[in-house]
Amino acid sequence: MGHAAVLCGLGTWLPPHVVTNEDLARELDTSDEWIRSRTGVGQRHVAGPGMATSDLAVEAGRRALKSAATDSVDAVILATTTPDRPCPGTAPSVATQLGLGNVPAFDLAAVCTGFLYALAAAGGLIAAGTAGSVLVIGAETYSSILDPQDRSTRAIFGDGAGAVVLRAGDPHEAGALGPLVLGSDGTGSEMIKVPSGGARDPIRAETIATADPYFRMSGRQVFRHAVERMTDASVEAAARAGWEPSDIDVFIVHQANVRIMHAVADQLRLPRARFPVHLDRVGNTAAASIPLAMADAVGAGTLRAGHRTAMAAFGGGLTWGASTLTWPDVTPN
Ligand code: UT7
Repeated sequence: MGHAAVLCGLGTWLPPHVVTNEDLARELDTSDEWIRSRTGVGQRHVAGPGMATSDLAVEAGRRALKSAATDSVDAVILATTTPDRPCPGTAPSVATQLGLGNVPAFDLAAVCTGFLYALAAAGGLIAAGTAGSVLVIGAETYSSILDPQDRSTRAIFGDGAGAVVLRAGDPHEAGALGPLVLGSDGTGSEMIKVPSGGARDPIRAETIATADPYFRMSGRQVFRHAVERMTDASVEAAARAGWEPSDIDVFIVHQANVRIMHAVADQLRLPRARFPVHLDRVGNTAAASIPLAMADAVGAGTLRAGHRTAMAAFGGGLTWGASTLTWPDVTPN
């Protein structure tokens, strides 16, 4: 057994309730035309009342384990911006509900880059010999932090979960993760934030009138950084893997906005068709978006075993990352 992290299972889950752009336009000053042309989103899934991130994570995790034909792993990492509670972490409850026993389980907060950071953490556990296999889940319930009156964020974000199983293996086999390029820039921490409810601005009876518990984003600024960082990180990840960007068959890119994805393709001078789009049906699902887009692309036949594949993401923090792998023969659940 080698010490590379090899992707060997993929599972996803979306809450059944769908909110279309027309549904949003009935509530807010927006239109299907604006949302489609500015973002590419046509609809999003929204968790129902009483449904939280762990519920989505357990469903996706169960499916990933089935896809990997296993019922045990040595660790669980849950990438999420929307944990069930500020404390404790959500991952231990997910691990227990999946029947995984007393394995180490922790949350990882890197907003929309969370899944790639979690892959890096899992790869580290495997490389160190701490774990022989890791379940990595990205799960989000953004509907719980969106301002019901904010048309710019409600147009984009959706709820969902995706998960992969990584196992120790050989660095040259299909599914082995290539080097991960990761970065952050805290000077941009104001661009994406939930202002209140943390230690900086706790919500108390006497502050509740002025508190802002909702997700806020400076969309236009974030847009520019997203294109630049995902382009540069993709080029670097390809180089570290010994590939040219043009060698890459499929780019699974964080599904933030189809215009961002097209801009990255254009910067890399590559056909936009190499960047499969999933956000038209699910919106931006933050830490869940990469595994959800992977499963969708496999289902559509766009992502096939043997394809040279890149992943790239960008999000609050600011954070970003990219990596590569040769797509393995996995059947998503
Ligand atoms: O997930 C990782 C991090 N997030 C991202 O990567 C998101 C990056 N940003 C974006 O995707 C885009 O910036 C948005 C989709 C959020 C906004 O699109 P934009 O083209 O940058 O628009 P804008 O924010 O500059 O706003 C242009 C106008 C504004 O009206 P005024 O001030 O010009 O009158 C907005 O109020 O569009 C308005 N607007 C809307 N109009 C109709 C914003 N949202 C909507 C809406 N419907 N849903």
